[in-house]
Amino acid sequence: MSGSTTNAGGSVTVTLDGTNKSMKLPLLPGTIGPEVADIRKLYSELGIFTYDPGYGGTAACESKITYIDGDVGVLLHRGYPIEQLAEHSTFLEVAHLLLNGELPTPAEKHDFEQGVMRHTMLHEQLRSFYNGFRRDAHPMAIMCGVVGALSAFYHDSLDINDPEVRRISAFRLIAKMPTIAAWAYKYAIGQPFIYPRNDLGYAENFLYMMNAVPAEEYHVNPVLARAMDLILILHADHEQNASTSTVRLAGSTGANPFACIAAGIASLWGPAHGGANEAVLKMLREIGHVDNIPGFLEKVKDKNSGVLLMGFGHRVYKNYDPRAKIMQHTCHAVLKELGIKDDPLLDLAAELERIALHDEYFISRKLYPNVDFYSGIILKAMGFPTSMFTVLFAVARTVGWFSQWKEMIEDPSQRIGRPRQVYTGPTQRDYVALDQR
Ligand code: ACO
Repeated sequence: MSGSTTNAGGSVTVTLDGTNKSMKLPLLPGTIGPEVADIRKLYSELGIFTYDPGYGGTAACESKITYIDGDVGVLLHRGYPIEQLAEHSTFLEVAHLLLNGELPTPAEKHDFEQGVMRHTMLHEQLRSFYNGFRRDAHPMAIMCGVVGALSAFYHDSLDINDPEVRRISAFRLIAKMPTIAAWAYKYAIGQPFIYPRNDLGYAENFLYMMNAVPAEEYHVNPVLARAMDLILILHADHEQNASTSTVRLAGSTGANPFACIAAGIASLWGPAHGGANEAVLKMLREIGHVDNIPGFLEKVKDKNSGVLLMGFGHRVYKNYDPRAKIMQHTCHAVLKELGIKDDPLLDLAAELERIALHDEYFISRKLYPNVDFYSGIILKAMGFPTSMFTVLFAVARTVGWFSQWKEMIEDPSQRIGRPRQVYTGPTQRDYVALDQR
């Protein structure tokens, strides 16, 4: 097969070598970003599929939600740069933006916040679900189970074709995730579940449910509540990553959003994705001291060691992840507020970053810190156990997952997701009876 682009007609011509067969693939222009060759008729016209394991060169959908320019390190939500949203916005305002396409007016903001904060409680029957888990269960396992179980509680919210049902389901999922997450933590440490308080802000309420006990008053530190809100903003959406694509693929079958988001949580759990900040902290502890950095980096560069520099590298960013920069500043603010003058892990991380950014291995492969490099250090300072790091990511990303799922359901060209394959197994053969094998 050979190909040539001709931008004039907005198409690329593909010729099947050794035959006289060729076809024009239309080029679909986005508002920004590279043009995309439309290969939908390639099989019917030329009888061939395309091969792209990991989907690095494949656009699986059209989307208006998030744009990333990985070469320069740009992240836009509905056109707004992440730096501006992080500085001026709140998580619930960003949630409105992702879900509905626009920043809310003051009245819309009030209604949206009320809508979310009126759905924070869990059905009392869900309480007993927690008792079925071992006390030492990973909270992500509990998240998969409890969020999946929500579909058993909201029969009235399963008609995905009804826009009102989709609106209420979004409120339910966004509102209940912090409660589900905080209860997973309380269950593990044997403390009573703390019921949500709708008079608090979203991030504030989450910290309250995580840290309060019924025996005494608890006031959430406003600096930490703002830091938490910021962390939620930074993790809210990131276009077609593994977990979002999982949610879209599950949703393409018509499955309900609670089940789809449970699938997204499972996909997020892995150390190559949402589990990375947990892995960063483990890595920093294993390195232990700045003197051990060179030896550790030698291991990372040895392909046979299987060791990666966690929190570095990204499928799309070939530059500094813009979220990592914001996270680094937040990290300093949180440590200052908590009176932590010298955090050995932060010092180690800063030195590791400095050395790696000057090392030919990382420079030539365009490996830069990603959002997870510093987030673990902040969360640890705020008192979160490492097992809760990915849970927090799931709380934030629920907004992105839901927005992407909703966009897909509302797209008339949406079809069931069904990739093809290059089959390399045996050709047809006859069954061999057991006594003749
Ligand atoms: N440490 C060491 N080498 C790395 C790393 C790393 N963290 N990341 C990539 N590389 C190397 C690869 O081995 C490859 O080397 P080669 O060209 O010699 O074969 C080269 O850099 C290019 O990497 P890819 O394989 O193209 O990277 P890919 O896009 O498949 O993977 C990923 C991206 C999974 C994020 C990877 O960089 C990684 O595992 N990083 C560590 C885990 C992590 O931080 N994940 C969080 C991602 S962000 C998020 O989910 C919020």
